Amino acid sequence: MSKIAVVGATGLVGENMLKMLEKQNIPFESLVLFSSEKSAGKEITFQGKTYIVEALTEEKARAHFDYVLMSAGGQTSLKYSPIFESAGAIVIDNSSAFRMFEDIDLIVPEVNEPKLKRGIIANPNCSTIQSVVPLKYLNDQFGITRVNYTTYQAVSGSGVKGKQDLLNGEKGLPPQNYPHPIYNNVLPHIDDFLENGYTKEEQKMIDETRKILNLPDLKVSATCVRVPVLDSHSVLINVTLDKPTTVEEIKRVFESAEHVVLIDNPSNNEYPLAINSTGKDEVFVGRIRQDDSLDNTFYIWCTADNLLKGAALNAVQILKQLLDKGLKRQ
Ligand SMILES: NC(=O)c1ccc[n+]([C@@H]2O[C@H](COP(=O)([O-])OP(=O)(O)OC[C@H]3O[C@@H](n4cnc5c(N)ncnc54)[C@H](OP(=O)(O)O)[C@@H]3O)[C@@H](O)[C@H]2O)c1
Repeated sequence: MSKIAVVGATGLVGENMLKMLEKQNIPFESLVLFSSEKSAGKEITFQGKTYIVEALTEEKARAHFDYVLMSAGGQTSLKYSPIFESAGAIVIDNSSAFRMFEDIDLIVPEVNEPKLKRGIIANPNCSTIQSVVPLKYLNDQFGITRVNYTTYQAVSGSGVKGKQDLLNGEKGLPPQNYPHPIYNNVLPHIDDFLENGYTKEEQKMIDETRKILNLPDLKVSATCVRVPVLDSHSVLINVTLDKPTTVEEIKRVFESAEHVVLIDNPSNNEYPLAINSTGKDEVFVGRIRQDDSLDNTFYIWCTADNLLKGAALNAVQILKQLLDKGLKRQ
């Protein structure tokens, strides 16, 4: 049995990681919960036992853990993940800090498997995770040559502070986290702007899609938008396929896909909805239709819980993948 640490246990993702450890029946010998100084001393009850949250320090990261679920932002990860790794742990990191390093695996268990050249595995960006699951099935069947994403991302994707901005905005208070009010508004801006006019979030979707699907030359573009929704991201995927196909064939692929739920009955107002995805493990797809402006190109509306499949669940599924397949560091 394993020694497990959860870093960022008091955050939105960390809290859900604990729920997912329980739901996925992950066995462990010991569990240590870390936060910053701010939440140190807080009590968290998990599986009937009360844990006292500890402030993470370099000394504590040098203690040996088998697996560390890291969910405390990029700077914390850059500092502490290599220390945990040197002490023998496999770190599963939710931040973007290591995702594009050549020797670091970027994993969605339905799609790819870690090679473990390093003891750090990166959990991808939330909108990317939910999108590559249906894209993997299409790539296997038809090959994909081009993808254009438009996202409609929930405020919980920005952690506790994002939710506060929406809830405070409803009361007429000014934003603390976003540059503009998110209540009653739509922000075409997630993360910092880059020189090419894209945001970092958009660039993450582009780079990470290519890396996870192992399609380095795939044409990908993205526009990422924050919407006043508490939980669950929606993504409009516009995909061009290599082998000619039809809407009906694509629906058949999703109907038989293990990790995707097809909801596509528009005449009855049935399609994936953010509010119906919240709290669920699956990725939902629907509104499959032809894009008549391009050859062999289709629209797919895709929703998933950003805190679960987009973060905590995917991280715990990576841990389960390591345990089930007996995968070890090289
Ligand atoms: N929210 C999402 O949908 C989502 C999706 C994918 C990835 N992520 C990534 O997951 C990470 C956490 O996101 P979140 O939404 O859970 O944020 P959050 O709700 O703001 O929680 C942040 C957590 O990190 C802890 N922390 C901050 N600085 C720390 C330090 N120096 N040492 C140890 N712990 C520290 C905080 O502890 P205190 O309580 O002491 O402040 C808190 O537990 C981020 O890297 C984020 O980019 C989030």
